[in-house]
Amino acid sequence: MLEARPTESKTPGRPAQKRQPAVLVTGAGGEMGHGLIRALAESSEQLSIVGLDLRPATDEIADCCSETLAGDVRDQSLLDGLARRYHFTQVYHLAALLSTSAEQAPIQAFEVNLGGTMNLLRLAIETRDQTGVTPQVLFPSTIAVYGVPTLEAKLAAGSVAEHECLEPRTMYGCNKLSAEQLGRYFTLHHRQLQPGEPGSVDFRAIRFPGIISADTIPTGGTTDYGPQMLHAAAQDKPYQCFVRPDSRLPFMTMPEAIEAMLSLAAAERSTLTRTAYNVRSFAPTAAELAETIGARFPALEVGFEPHPGRQMIVDGWPADVDDRAAAKDWGWSARHTLETALDEYLIPGLRRHYGRT
Ligand code: SER
Repeated sequence: MLEARPTESKTPGRPAQKRQPAVLVTGAGGEMGHGLIRALAESSEQLSIVGLDLRPATDEIADCCSETLAGDVRDQSLLDGLARRYHFTQVYHLAALLSTSAEQAPIQAFEVNLGGTMNLLRLAIETRDQTGVTPQVLFPSTIAVYGVPTLEAKLAAGSVAEHECLEPRTMYGCNKLSAEQLGRYFTLHHRQLQPGEPGSVDFRAIRFPGIISADTIPTGGTTDYGPQMLHAAAQDKPYQCFVRPDSRLPFMTMPEAIEAMLSLAAAERSTLTRTAYNVRSFAPTAAELAETIGARFPALEVGFEPHPGRQMIVDGWPADVDDRAAAKDWGWSARHTLETALDEYLIPGLRRHYGRT
């Protein structure tokens, strides 16, 4: 386990004020962390943001945070140290090993994805006990919590609702579903031996589909073929897709994902009827993805070389998810189709990113 090292402080030499209110973001240096921290820093609320990641923070992240730390969510003493200095009103717990990485290292995935989540829940519970204020814990869950036994069952299931097909076939899916259940327990049932006690935490989860960013490419996920294909196209590189052309999964853009997290965080607790909500924007097959991207990057060459293990994971995930509960409870609405995602966000962003304006 890595040892925690503060990497940057905006006020060097001045120790953080004792138990200063702050927002904690774990996985701060990851794909979603980047965009989320920028959005939090730009919000009008003047939040103190503490960023935690295994890797030292980039300047861009450090500039948005009052403190960044390189450390591991498995490191309880690191979290205890943070809890002595900050009163976290919100925790965005993004740190996780994605699905392909988790299959390669299932025990480590369990420790990070579930053990890490328990550590963060404990931090939130202790904060509530010490301050009387219930912290929000915002959690990116995933379509991997779903599991269909066969391709035929996937086609028959169509667009799945939150309570359906909950038999995950990956370590990542098992971890995330268990984490959702822990969050639900600590929100609704913890301390039931002392009736009348309020919830210990306010846990809210979104089951994200594949997420596509114009700025970053994910690592270790199974939906990675979407963003990889697009970034290859933008760099005039050929792409070998690791799933069959007929593989269908839901996706969305990174700005939509971040907006969804912030909208769920802003929702009144009384309007929420679930612990975890589906969201999605478009659900193309890999062939449709290649065709729609290829229409905009005519030089793109996509080959299909399915990887048996990753194909099995994709075949076990639903072709689409039903996001009506999120729409009803907290006003979620997808901003993009695949075409508008490409034309209005991804391609302009990719041009800027790769300096091809
Ligand atoms: N993008 C994730 C993965 O592929 C699924 O939520 O692991």
